[in-house]
Amino acid sequence: MKVEPYKFSGVYSITDREQKSISTKSLVPGTSVYGEKLVKEGEDEFRLWSPRRSKLSAAIKRGLREMPIQPGSKVLYLGAASGTTVSHCSDIVGPNGVIYAVEFSQRTVRDLVQLAAVRPNIIPILDDARHPTRYAPLVSGTIEVVYQDVAQPNQASILYENLKTFCSFGAWGMLAIKARSIDSTSSLEEVYSREIAELDNRGLEIVENINLEPLEKDHRFVVCRVTEDMT
Ligand SMILES: C[S@@+](CC[C@H](N)C(=O)[O-])C[C@H]1O[C@@H](n2cnc3c(N)ncnc32)[C@H](O)[C@@H]1O
Repeated sequence: MKVEPYKFSGVYSITDREQKSISTKSLVPGTSVYGEKLVKEGEDEFRLWSPRRSKLSAAIKRGLREMPIQPGSKVLYLGAASGTTVSHCSDIVGPNGVIYAVEFSQRTVRDLVQLAAVRPNIIPILDDARHPTRYAPLVSGTIEVVYQDVAQPNQASILYENLKTFCSFGAWGMLAIKARSIDSTSSLEEVYSREIAELDNRGLEIVENINLEPLEKDHRFVVCRVTEDMT
């Protein structure tokens, strides 16, 4: 088994009998968050990050070029669910970063609270991502990355409103577009184009647009950047 740094800081490649996987170095060794495999290497422990369980891992596998979530990053994560991807982001940002994890399902947020109990860089927020001003008082300082994975009809607009509320020039948006939550009749390409055009029209620079098939059905992953004043 060989562990090597991947091209993104905080992400590692693990090769086992010709099979390559990506992983993150665990902030809480000895704990598997969602049943993922743990790999020990000297003093460190790595958590395999399956592209079938996480759209961010799928985007990396499908050739993501820019990875705004880095050691020390301040991230607002919308649609945290029980924390599968959040836990890997927590490993990456490490003790000097923070993940504000927003989830509106009360049942699901309980798992997130348990995760945050052992990972102090996760701040769980039970609220609706469509209303950023409601949870703004819980977020301190400027957010550098807004990551969004919510199954809602107006995904681009939710991302924009959160970027506008929490970020300034140079901040990043990362959006997993779930086409069938937006429109169940138009073609996938039409739905993606409309959402991406909305981000573009609102002045965000579209940096990447990745097709997540076949790892995630009917999903696009978009990375964008704030390059204009949003006030
Ligand atoms: C596909 S799951 C997220 C999976 C998670 N991002 C991961 O990779 O581990 C989408 C989540 O978004 C939540 N959600 C949907 N609409 C939301 C909203 N308006 N505000 C907050 N959470 C929302 C759902 O309850 C669900 O848990």
